[in-house]
Amino acid sequence: MIRIKIFLDTANISELQRAMSAGVLDGCTTNPSLIKAEVDKAKKEGLKIDLEGHIEQICRTLGKGKSVSLEVVSTDYENMAREGEFLYKRFNPAAGNVAVKIPINPSVDGKDNSHGIRAIKYLSTKGIPINTTLIMTPEQALLAAKAGASIVSPFAGRIDDYIRVKTGVKFGKEEYFPAGGIGKDDNGIVSGIDLVKKIVEIFKNYKIKTEVLAGSIRNERQAREVALAGADIATIPFSVLMKMLQHEKTLEGTIKFSQDTVQEYKNVFRNAKK
Ligand code: E4P
Repeated sequence: MIRIKIFLDTANISELQRAMSAGVLDGCTTNPSLIKAEVDKAKKEGLKIDLEGHIEQICRTLGKGKSVSLEVVSTDYENMAREGEFLYKRFNPAAGNVAVKIPINPSVDGKDNSHGIRAIKYLSTKGIPINTTLIMTPEQALLAAKAGASIVSPFAGRIDDYIRVKTGVKFGKEEYFPAGGIGKDDNGIVSGIDLVKKIVEIFKNYKIKTEVLAGSIRNERQAREVALAGADIATIPFSVLMKMLQHEKTLEGTIKFSQDTVQEYKNVFRNAKK
């Protein structure tokens, strides 16, 4: 088995089915924004979405042995713990593949930063696999792992955005940001890839079993670099998965081979079953 896992960052069933049939998928990550995209799409098409049924279908499309991350929506310990238990009980029976996504620190007023980490501790003690989301520093990742998380999700693309915004660089969301940075950093982190690399390094130092899931990947180059950085999992949008298969010279070669296919060679395939 190839050890790096590829997840799709989507709640779209047809994208999941296509990636599954390609044999490259190990799981998927959802979040409230990705769920919103599906609900909005259905509304636009004049359809009424059965969201619970939709989520069950996601779990079944992936099937046993894969992983589906579903996120809580509350921001306080009690409700996150309650919602996490509910998500697991409600959707894990579909295919036994649910991981609950808990934000590392959902505090908006900064009064108590411990709600997320306490929810991770509570739920992981109950045997529920936890994917800690919105990880922006190696120290957040370390604490999530200590609290029992199965997965930590550093958001590579959003750190790149943050550094660019802080330094006044204009950019497009899918534009490549160099792994080595642009001469500015976020408290010692020079890029999203650097964040992933540092978490991988710390986990290696202490033989921490928690998996590092590189999230917020916006282009194929980033997907390559998180693999080079040693991430256990990369979660990518379907569009990036498709771009990973593309190269101008591949296209050129395909056209040339097709032009060079003589009738004699075509005849070789005449008995190939339709
Ligand atoms: C990961 O689990 C998140 O859902 C995701 O990668 C966020 O990506 P974005 O920053 O492109 O929204």
